[in-house]
Amino acid sequence: MQKKTENVLNFPKSFLWGASVSAHQIEGGNHNQWTVWELENAKARALEAAAHLGDYENWSEIEPAVTDPENYVSGRLADHYNRYSQDFDLLEQMNMNAFRFSVEWSRIEPDEGVWNAVALKRYKDYIEELKRRNIEPIVTLFHFTLPIWFAEKGGFERRSNVKYFTRFAKKIVSELGPSVRLIITLNEPEIYAIKGYHFGSWPPASKSNYKCWRVLNNLALAHRQTARMIHGLNRRYKISISKNSKYYYAGDDALLSRTSAAIMQYIQDDYFIKKVIKSCDFLGVNCYFTSRIYGNRTHNPGRNISDIGWDMQPSDIQHVLERLDRKYHKPIIITENGVADKDDKVRRWWIAKSIIGIQKAMLHGVRVDGYLHWSLIDNFEWAYGKWPRFGLASVDYKTCERKLRPSAIWFGNIIGKIRNL
Ligand code: BGC
Repeated sequence: MQKKTENVLNFPKSFLWGASVSAHQIEGGNHNQWTVWELENAKARALEAAAHLGDYENWSEIEPAVTDPENYVSGRLADHYNRYSQDFDLLEQMNMNAFRFSVEWSRIEPDEGVWNAVALKRYKDYIEELKRRNIEPIVTLFHFTLPIWFAEKGGFERRSNVKYFTRFAKKIVSELGPSVRLIITLNEPEIYAIKGYHFGSWPPASKSNYKCWRVLNNLALAHRQTARMIHGLNRRYKISISKNSKYYYAGDDALLSRTSAAIMQYIQDDYFIKKVIKSCDFLGVNCYFTSRIYGNRTHNPGRNISDIGWDMQPSDIQHVLERLDRKYHKPIIITENGVADKDDKVRRWWIAKSIIGIQKAMLHGVRVDGYLHWSLIDNFEWAYGKWPRFGLASVDYKTCERKLRPSAIWFGNIIGKIRNL
């Protein structure tokens, strides 16, 4: 199947082939709510690493990194903020025509109501350079990080704070102007709410289900208000959220398994999507997981496990797409899909299975407009730190050298053949 992947694939000319990143995960040198949390928690995370990750098969390999506090501090990373041209070269080398990234609110508005003209100019130049290279920019406005002043005001816990986000969005959209067409307001809203407010494993490390629910609802409001504002500026903007979606299925015929899978699917996807779908022009979908349910628990086959301990069933993207299409009838862009694989043992297989799954869904009538792989380069993986390697290109954090992994070279050739380049 992998030998001839390009021969069995048939994608429209307009299909977006690209990669995704977020500001805080690759730019380096940020100063926001996350960087504060990183410094406060690095030592504790290193000390607790064995308890969290000690039963991983690759423990002996990851132990030196995960027990080192430095792993948990983002720092300079790949220095994408200054070296972005090198990364755009990689997109071109892979024949890509789309790139999703986020603008870092804390750079644009470092203090309440204070706009940083230099940072705005830098993002404008960034987008212009993408356009010069015929790469479609897809801009994310919120990808998990908050300016410190906004976090201190209570962030999205307070409904009255939503206006600050909409004001930031308005500034960005008016400044970036007509060069941008596709906008993601929020990345994975309930991952943010659950990690930050239910599990407390991300800042602000709260464990309050009430706050979690409130944040989720305020994020939905933030999306709706932002979408209304942007559509009011111009209907040419196409807007969505990036919704993490997984495929839940019952592992047996028991009523409990089937009911649990349906309930979990609803909580995971539909609870939030229903609140925002009317103001989405398309649906951005991030796809990493499958959950096989027995009784009321996930129990995956566990045959293929990625570096980060996640069960890998990439073909199931087909079911995710078909379900979302049946339910919401919107064009879909896959805004993230990828695998932590430092030695590049499975990435090629993952990508092949994923794009064949997408193609099958399209043959069943689903309109898919793009596939953006996570990630273009190795990135800061939030509370895990720097050791998981999701990049199509590896990054040497000492020298900032980036290098396309073999799977990325293969993927780039496939894209070139599909696009007839
Ligand atoms: C997030 C990314 C993250 C990726 C891999 C998605 O949930 O949007 O920020 O790096 O998954 O964990």
